[in-house]
This record gives sequence, C-alpha cells and structure tokens, in this order.
Amino acid sequence: MSYTFPKNFWWGASSSAFQIEGGWDEDGKGMTVADFNSFKRSDKQADSKVASDFYHHWEEDIELMKEMGMQAYRFSISWARILPDGDGEINPKGIAFYNKVIDKLLESGIIPFITLYHFDLPYALVTKYNGWECRDCAYAFERYARVCFEAFGDRVKYWQVHNEQNLMMRVDERMNINEPDPVKKEKIRAQMDYHMFLAHALSVNACHELVEGGKIGCAVSSTVTYPMTNKPEDVWAARMNNQFKTDYCLDVHMYGEYPGYYMAYLKEQDMVPAMDPGDAELLKSAKMDFIALNYYRTLTACYLPADDEHPKGTRLEGMNEVDYDMYGYWKIEKNTNLTASEYGAQIDPVGLRIVLNEYWNRYRLPLIITENGLGTADVLTEDGKVHDDYRIDYMKRHIEAIGKAIEDGVQMMGYCPWSVIDLLSSHQGFRKRYGLVYVNRSDMDLKDLARIRKDSFYWYQNVIRTNGKKL
Ligand code: BG6
Repeated sequence: MSYTFPKNFWWGASSSAFQIEGGWDEDGKGMTVADFNSFKRSDKQADSKVASDFYHHWEEDIELMKEMGMQAYRFSISWARILPDGDGEINPKGIAFYNKVIDKLLESGIIPFITLYHFDLPYALVTKYNGWECRDCAYAFERYARVCFEAFGDRVKYWQVHNEQNLMMRVDERMNINEPDPVKKEKIRAQMDYHMFLAHALSVNACHELVEGGKIGCAVSSTVTYPMTNKPEDVWAARMNNQFKTDYCLDVHMYGEYPGYYMAYLKEQDMVPAMDPGDAELLKSAKMDFIALNYYRTLTACYLPADDEHPKGTRLEGMNEVDYDMYGYWKIEKNTNLTASEYGAQIDPVGLRIVLNEYWNRYRLPLIITENGLGTADVLTEDGKVHDDYRIDYMKRHIEAIGKAIEDGVQMMGYCPWSVIDLLSSHQGFRKRYGLVYVNRSDMDLKDLARIRKDSFYWYQNVIRTNGKKL
C-alpha cells in the first residue's frame, strides 16, 4: 500500500541542544538545568559535556543530513549559549555558532526549524529567582526569544517555543522543583506552568513582530489514552488523562485561558496561579501558526473511585502513575494488545492516526511531528554497520499512519523523527539510541565519535527520495 504525501511535505529529523551539542562550557556558554542534572549522573552514564559533540562535528553532521536528503532539521538553541546567565550580556560566540549552523543548513537545502527551549533553562536563573517560579523568567525568555528572532529571523522562518511544556512541568528535575512539602510543591508547579504560558504568548507575538513571514507554534508531548474497558468510568478516566496531561496545555495556547475542568481543579486544590491584569488579553492575542507534536506511545487508563485509601483531595507525587481529579482517580495500566520497546514504550502507530485526527479536528491548524522514534541499544556489528531493521519497521508503520491521517483530511506539514543522529537519551545516556546515524561512543568511553550510517539512514533516504511512495 502506498500513500500520497503533499509535494511540500517536509521529511526531516530532530535533535536538541543539550542532547547533541556537547561543548557545554565552551566559548562562554553558561551551565543549564539540563547540564546540572546530567552531571549528577556523570559517574554512571554519559552526560551533556560532550554528548554527540555536534559542537565540533556540525559540518560533517549537516553533510550527512544533506546526503540523507533531509528537507528540514528541527533542533534547539541553547539559551545559555546565547545569554550565558539567562538575562544578561549576549554572547557573540554563541550567535556565531548558530549562524554557521543555519547558513550551512540553508546551503544544503535544509530548512532550519528552531526550538527555543528544550529542557535547558540557564542555571543562573535558578540561582537568581528559582527559574520559572518567578514571573521575571517569562520576561527573560521573551528577551532571549527576541535576541534569536533578531539574529536569525532573516533566515529562519519556522520556530517552536517550548519543547513539551506539558510533560516538562510534571518532572521536578526538569523544572528544578525541590520543595519537599507536597502541597507547596504543586502550587509552585502550577505557577511555573503559568509563567511558561506567558513566555509562550510573549514570544509568539514577538516572532510575528520581528520575523518577516515567521511561523511559530508549540511542541506538545501528545497523549492518547485508551479506556481499560468500556465501562463509562474508564472512558472518563482516559479522557481525563488526555485532558490533564496535554489538552489543557493546547487549549491555553489556542484560546488563551484554562479550560473549565482545569480551572476547577486548580481552584479546588487552592493553586490558581497569580496573574496580572492584562494577562488574559496577552494570552488570547498570541496566535500560533501550527501545532507540533511529539509522539512515542499510547497509554491505557482505568478509573478508581475515591475511597479511604485514596480520599478525594489527596495530592499524589508528580501525578504520574495514579492521577487525581475532583471525583476520584485514574490509573495508568499496561495495554496487553500492544508490544513495547525494550524500554517500555508501548508501540502504537494507530494511536498516531488517532491523535493527528483529534488535534486537526479540534484546532484546524497544520500539524507537524517533531519527535517520533524507537530508543534501543543498537549494536555496531563486525561488518562495521548497524542493522536496525526494527527501527525501519517502527518508522514505516508510523509513516503509514501519517499517510492514513492525510487521507482522513488532516493537514500535515511534515515528519521529523527523533533523532537525526544518536544523542544523549534523557535517562539512559548512550545505552538507548534513537539516531539514523550511529555515534561511536559509549557512556563512559568517548572512542572516536565516528558517524556511521545505520541501515535506517539508507531506508529513510529512499523514503525521502520517493516522497513516501516507497516505504
Ligand atoms: C522527548 C524529549 O520527550 O523524549 C526528548 O523531547 C527525549 O528530549 C525523548 O530524548 C526520548 O526520551 P528519552 O528519555 O528516551 O531520551
């Protein structure tokens, strides 16, 4: 079966600064929250100091992208390379580095597609005012975004604001939340989330003001949750999980206000964030041009009514496994109909078709996938190759799902799988690889950092060449 992809469909690939660049303190770059957290694990696994060393291999890596035929490269700028302490002096060497990368991409016929913030808040802003907890962080972000639009906006027309705000804000480490009291902790989290919404709105408006023809959107971690059974309560639980994990975030971006169920929850928990007069207008004024989504897996939920063990109102750590709403709880269960990757992500191409249809039907904005991929422990075999047929199978099935969504009428801009080359996995270093190109290093041994084309590289090259006709 073959699918027809639009002529202007972007076949790309993705990365993020702290996971690919290395050069963590070179040429004036400041430390970030992502660096800080990765250094905590330096004795056990790779950290962001060298990562894939893109900082020194960028020319070779872009040559490989060109050889693959990539039409877009979704990558992030490190805020602390541009403004080492987050809101102070501009670092000209940081600007120069990204200028070289952007120019080389354009010479190679590749559209630069930039994320402004991918988990790497400048650490100096944590020291200064605990980062996103303070409203000033939203203004510091706006300034950083403006610096980027002014420096690169003549050539870069496609931008993303935060990578996965909806997921990031649930992870204490990424938000640098250290508050031990669970009640205060959730309050801080809600305030941080709100400041990120403000930062998003400020930078969407700044992009439209400063970048001629500029297009900007969010990148959400998409959530598809199935009910465990056809019991109406389980159907409700699945819906709640989607709404509380992702949909509320898209709704704030789209409509400039929290949806009713989320505001009711914030009120009930006494954690409605502090807002300034004029915020509502600002949030409503920021109009995104597209929605980007990252898609890895689906979830399955069942409902648990409030009881003695889980009384209504109990706050649960990180809201990850069992989540609370105003009426009861929902619990994430394993879906026995699906197989999982060796790291536990349930593989589900049908879920991708579902979520693409849902987001398109709800928001009517063009969609682009900015992450999708299989994390595995790839093996460099004696023939000097990586035979990753499992990745080819994974990508093929997901691309087919996109083809079907396009037939369903969904307007798709493109597909940027994770990741262009092997890079630092957020939790498993280099033991878990996603790349189309193998980077010859292990967690504790840098080896020669050689770039080796995996079988999936050649396969994807052919997909691009045939505009998805040959999968
Ligand atoms: C996404 C992130 O949520 O998941 C990436 O945007 C991350 O930064 C990817 O690498 C895969 O997760 P992990 O933990 O396997 O690296």
